[in-house]
Amino acid sequence: MANILIRNAEIITMNKQEEIIYGDIRIRDNLIAEIGSGLVEQGDERVIDAKNRTVIPGFVQTHIHLCQTLFRGKGDDLELMDWLRKRIWPLEAAHDEESLYYSAMLGIGELISSGTTTIVDMETVHHTDFAFQALAGSGIRALSGKVMMDQKNADAPAALQEETAASLQESVDLLEKWNGYGNGRIQYAFSPRFVISCTEPLLREVRDLSERYGVKVHTHASENLGEIEIVQAMTGMRNIVYLDHLGLANERLILAHCVWLDDEERRILRDRGVHVSHCPGSNLKLASGIADTPGMLHDHIHLSLGADGAPCNNNLDMFNEMRLAAIIQKPLHGPTTMDARSVFRMATIGGAKAVGMEDQIGSIEAGKKADLAILNLYNFHTFPSFDVDPISRIVYSATRADVETTVIDGEILMDKGLLKTVDKDT
Ligand code: GUN
Ligand code: FE
Repeated sequence: MANILIRNAEIITMNKQEEIIYGDIRIRDNLIAEIGSGLVEQGDERVIDAKNRTVIPGFVQTHIHLCQTLFRGKGDDLELMDWLRKRIWPLEAAHDEESLYYSAMLGIGELISSGTTTIVDMETVHHTDFAFQALAGSGIRALSGKVMMDQKNADAPAALQEETAASLQESVDLLEKWNGYGNGRIQYAFSPRFVISCTEPLLREVRDLSERYGVKVHTHASENLGEIEIVQAMTGMRNIVYLDHLGLANERLILAHCVWLDDEERRILRDRGVHVSHCPGSNLKLASGIADTPGMLHDHIHLSLGADGAPCNNNLDMFNEMRLAAIIQKPLHGPTTMDARSVFRMATIGGAKAVGMEDQIGSIEAGKKADLAILNLYNFHTFPSFDVDPISRIVYSATRADVETTVIDGEILMDKGLLKTVDKDT
């Protein structure tokens, strides 16, 4: 952590008024100490001249599988259940400690270099301690957990099927080791894979443990019609009705996908304050469907964004997810639906709400943690003219290559060195 002064920037604050201002940001230790104009140097170890640069809150991705980064391209052109059975589950079963560590590291590098500063991540059944070692060493902010798969069905390889008690004990051991690590940058999240992979006693215990420890539960639901049919045959209920029946539908639940919902499920999501992670790239590539995000926003359901695993849409890039989240709705609902600002909100403060940290991250405001990215939007592909709304430029034109610097908890974790900086240490 350093004392940093960023000068002369365009700042997309995402504060309550969603102000865009031109000025300076002073970072002290891990916090944004001051935002203003004409701030003078005051013991700043590093001064960044951000003229012609745009500072944004770091992206918060609420559904990621770092354990799958090494499988990129190995599950192309399949739909969900075939993709899991034929490709992803056998590949996860084959992970060892080292391959899991490097899979996580590869994903984290991609995320940080493309401006994502916080993730909600789901690992695999075994070796999750090594993914936590990668997370902790990297400096990214993360909620993560070992995936839980105690349902003895023939679909998953034997190596991924575990005993209920062992699954719970290993999860609690990891929680006790890692939750709160690194000044709170690492948090544990219980990660039952999805209803198909879990027994009812496990899910009930996860509910109690998440309440006892005050941590999140991260799972998948209602992604694919085939999945929903299996859940219906197993439980006699629709996915989200079942999760609610078990007491899991509450504000601690982060639910990936939610593509196929009926009215009752939407009511449950809204009334219980569940956080939905919308994954448009994954939903398209796995042919799962198009989630009704305009309807969910209309119903005041909490929405955020995630890239899912690398083999779901072949990258972990939030710029890709934002653009897809906006454009897939236009042919269905008209051009003003899911405008740039709505999806940028989901990518920043919406994600912060999902992880219960809206008072700490998700916007650039004095007193919040210094999690931010500096973009260069003055490239051929992003610079039509000065008068285009910068949020539109980011959502519809920018790419991960436009991220020059990423700061997490006041620490510069990626810097392409293109900014004019004065490093006071050297
Ligand atoms: N449902 C259960 N497991 C998975 C997974 O690994 N990825 C996706 N996209 N959906 C799932
Ligand atoms: Fe997923």
